[in-house]
Amino acid sequence: MSGWTHRHVLDLASFSVADYATVLQLAQRFRQLPVAGARKLPALQGRLMTTLFFEPSTRTRSSFELAARRLSADVQTFSPSSSSLSKGESLLDTARTYVAMGSNVLVVRHRCAGIPHRLARDLERGGDKVAVLNAGDGLHSHPSQGLLDLFTLARHFEPTQPSPASLAGRRVVIVGDVLHSRVARSNLWALTGCGAEVVLCGPATLLPEEFAQFVAAPPPGQRQDPVPQRGPVRLCRDLDEALSGADAVMTLRLQQERMHDHLLTSLDSYHRRYGLTHERLQRCGDRVPVLHPGPVNRGVELAGDLLDDSERCLVEEQVRNGVPIRMALLYLLSAGAGAGEAMGLTAA
Ligand code: NCD
Repeated sequence: MSGWTHRHVLDLASFSVADYATVLQLAQRFRQLPVAGARKLPALQGRLMTTLFFEPSTRTRSSFELAARRLSADVQTFSPSSSSLSKGESLLDTARTYVAMGSNVLVVRHRCAGIPHRLARDLERGGDKVAVLNAGDGLHSHPSQGLLDLFTLARHFEPTQPSPASLAGRRVVIVGDVLHSRVARSNLWALTGCGAEVVLCGPATLLPEEFAQFVAAPPPGQRQDPVPQRGPVRLCRDLDEALSGADAVMTLRLQQERMHDHLLTSLDSYHRRYGLTHERLQRCGDRVPVLHPGPVNRGVELAGDLLDDSERCLVEEQVRNGVPIRMALLYLLSAGAGAGEAMGLTAA
């Protein structure tokens, strides 16, 4: 695949504009293939994907599994509670067990930031050829979610030709619990990488000032930023002010399982200040779409009738787009060189 050099997908700080273009273009091709009654694509026949989820998941794991099956890969699901981890086996040894069975891609979710990176490094050191795909690590990163959000927005603005340019110069508001959100962090890299302006909105307890500088420098361990010029990031504490002039709004789940202190006075007062409603969205015009990575606390981040309004709220569209995005990632990480041309799926 032209220009694609990633051996693993661990975060989006290392993605160039060309990487975003490749993923969006491939996902668009996969998205356009008919699903009902269609034969599976043979692209990953004989390949094996293993999901290793150490944290709960509804959407991400099933979306990866469906994506792999649509490309004819075999799928193995590891469940921590019934595994030998409870007998003291280390995570690396568990991963190696699946590699020994022939796994080509490990899709890993863990509550600790950095686990997928460490696993990828240790497996590489051991000479294993397997790719690691981060499906969410602690508060750090959730690259496939960031990419499916990017794809959803790019398709909203340019349905037939979604690309990084579809986002350039657009203003995207991200509102809510940014502090505990790996989705917001991945979206910050992806959106600014495609030239969008990001306005972060939330109370100081859930959105510390430092987030204005989040993409100012590459993360520790990465020498340079592959994106020469990113879109700007600014903070705004007032939602009505943030919404005026917005092209899209993304809201985040209040991640109470990750809050160690009492960061909120009440859910009611949070909804009054930061909850999205039809009324509130009048600030930014009728066509501005609303996104949420799910799972949603109905009536907290989003009013129930707004969540059910599929004209306005793209939550289900995000779920649908997750499958072609993950097909694109699995394809890029596991297909042999030349397979893209053979399928007519090569990015330009
Ligand atoms: C997110 C996650 O797990 O980080 N969900 C998802 O993957 N769609 C967001 C969340 O838990 O709120």
